[in-house]
Amino acid sequence: MGKFKYTDENEQEFQRVAKKYPKIDAMMLPALWLVQEQEGWVSPDAMIYVADRLGKTPIEVYEFATFYTMFNLKPIGTYHIELCKTLSCMIMGAPELKKFIKDTLGIEPGQTTADGKFTLSEVECQGACGGAPMIALNNQYHENLTVDKLKSIIEECK
Ligand code: FES
Repeated sequence: MGKFKYTDENEQEFQRVAKKYPKIDAMMLPALWLVQEQEGWVSPDAMIYVADRLGKTPIEVYEFATFYTMFNLKPIGTYHIELCKTLSCMIMGAPELKKFIKDTLGIEPGQTTADGKFTLSEVECQGACGGAPMIALNNQYHENLTVDKLKSIIEECK
């Protein structure tokens, strides 16, 4: 058994959710979600833990986790910028935002700054197309962005 373990609070949540599922092996999604809430990402160690808890093999958990793009499979920065790359956002300026992030923070999608502060991910439509272009910053939406607005958002994080 590795080092990962749910916190007491998450263990309680795991038990609570488990009651709602007829079979424990249907719990992959909530079980991994709890891991990500706890650690910010899903480590190989945590996958082994989840496999053990659900009576699955680690490779089954791995395949599941890689299929769903919302799971981070690498540690992420303190600030996770999720830039929408779908049509409305793309037309309204997402490429300029992406370029600005690259020019100022030096990261491309999938990368984290060397100081561990910022991670950039590109994501599909977040359902906020009316406010395109948009990012989610640690799950909080920022819409109708311009390079200037994004600049002040990033400045505030520094
Ligand atoms: S296209 Fe970006 S939120 Fe829908």
